[in-house]
Amino acid sequence: MSQLSRREFGHYAGALALGMSTTRALGAGSPASEASPQAGRSSALSFPQGFRWGVATSAYQIEGAVHEDGCGLSIWDTYAHTLGKIEAGHNADVANDHYHRYREDVALMKELGVKVYRFSIAWPRIFPTGTGSPNGKGVDFYSRLVDELLAAGIEPFPTLYHWDLPQALQDKYGGWQSRETVNAFADYSGYVARKLSDRVSRFFTLNEIGTFVDRGHAGFEVQVGGENVPLESAPGLRLPPAELNQVRFHAVLAQALSVQAIHAMGKKGTQCGPADNVSTAVPVIDEPEHVRAAELATRELNATYLTVMMEGKYPETFLARAGKHAPRVTDEDARILATPVDFIGINVYRPAVYVLPSAQLPGYQSIPFNVSHPRMQSSWHLLGPEVMYWAPRIVHSLWKPNAIYITENGCAASDEPSEDGAVYDSDRNMFTRNCLSHLQRATAEGVPVKGYFHWTLMDNFEWSAGYGKRFGLVYVDFKTQKRTPKLSAAYFREAAWRNAVV
Ligand code: BG6
Repeated sequence: MSQLSRREFGHYAGALALGMSTTRALGAGSPASEASPQAGRSSALSFPQGFRWGVATSAYQIEGAVHEDGCGLSIWDTYAHTLGKIEAGHNADVANDHYHRYREDVALMKELGVKVYRFSIAWPRIFPTGTGSPNGKGVDFYSRLVDELLAAGIEPFPTLYHWDLPQALQDKYGGWQSRETVNAFADYSGYVARKLSDRVSRFFTLNEIGTFVDRGHAGFEVQVGGENVPLESAPGLRLPPAELNQVRFHAVLAQALSVQAIHAMGKKGTQCGPADNVSTAVPVIDEPEHVRAAELATRELNATYLTVMMEGKYPETFLARAGKHAPRVTDEDARILATPVDFIGINVYRPAVYVLPSAQLPGYQSIPFNVSHPRMQSSWHLLGPEVMYWAPRIVHSLWKPNAIYITENGCAASDEPSEDGAVYDSDRNMFTRNCLSHLQRATAEGVPVKGYFHWTLMDNFEWSAGYGKRFGLVYVDFKTQKRTPKLSAAYFREAAWRNAVV
């Protein structure tokens, strides 16, 4: 099969509807190794040539095998086994059993036309107690995974920290409350870079610092229809403001020190940067005054995370607001904080807020979401696909990074196989197409977005929601571990294949 025609796409969607096996539904013989129909041609809906199409996952959400081959305990093991923390009493001991099924999962990605894969490395597999002697079997697992990906023509983009802190560091130092954990993370980063950078050229350091810090240390809440809904994560602490700001500081310092360690220990030219869930203020109107207001607001909203990572120091406005609760930063740490990144990854799901310009300081006015504002399935997920245009555009105008990757974008949906066996996730299809349309606009205007990773490859252990929220392009039956691509997988494959919004 040289290319997938529209008719074949229709046939493929029909095949999904007939509940055919993954391999048959996606068509025998993958077009992945052949030139895309859009290659070299320009179209109003095309992405730039060489744009990377991928999916993202994280270790704790899919691997299972939490006690196998010398893997140490993580704070998520402890949290998931604490009564009442995870919906329906679920845990991730088995999850998607990816640790044993990674070959099948890589084959599945190849069939989906995936060209880049963002997965995370479980720190407790490499250093079971966070520091000390590395665990060879843990390193081997990721080494085999990298080889399998490369053999399938998929470029690996590992993330070093997707929230599974070794429990030993929590017990010994209070985890991210301590500067010791920052050093341990840098050592671990350098070690992994040394082991894998012969085959991996790009690493992401930490995933969504704001999420694991605030949900894990502040009892974070989100407003849903006028009510506050708690969103809590491991380790489940509630710290006072000064201690919370210190944890925030340690995490951004860890990202800077990790960059230094990767550069020092990895093969020459190895690149890295964070994968951050930038909080984006979206202007009500695309007009210079409104856009300026959105830029000011975005810089402020991210003051303790992306702004400090990109500017190398805290904005004065934040320090003034924090007052006596501001983080304590030594001169040496202030220098480390200024370490530049090679690129940035942004996870983009929803607008943080819509803003109007204002003559009063701080120069913008946040407007509340209307009660009837549409949302996707998750309580936090207000719908606003235009954020996929504004997030990279504003990040680019504020900080001019060399390259931007969309490291996550996706949604949960109430996916169930229908009588014919297919999973018709029409809402995810709508969400993805709309987000891609806005992203395409950004690339067409010259914003340097180099790739898109859909969150996520397959349904997984969705943290505190257990297996009750499905984000995958592929449906997983957790009793049998059978993987079934959903309708949106067909959409993703076609878009990746054509390098365009379809
Ligand atoms: C991102 C995380 O924040 O969003 C993922 O990086 C997570 O790990 C996804 O699965 C969905 O989040 P939530 O809060 O709905 O589980």
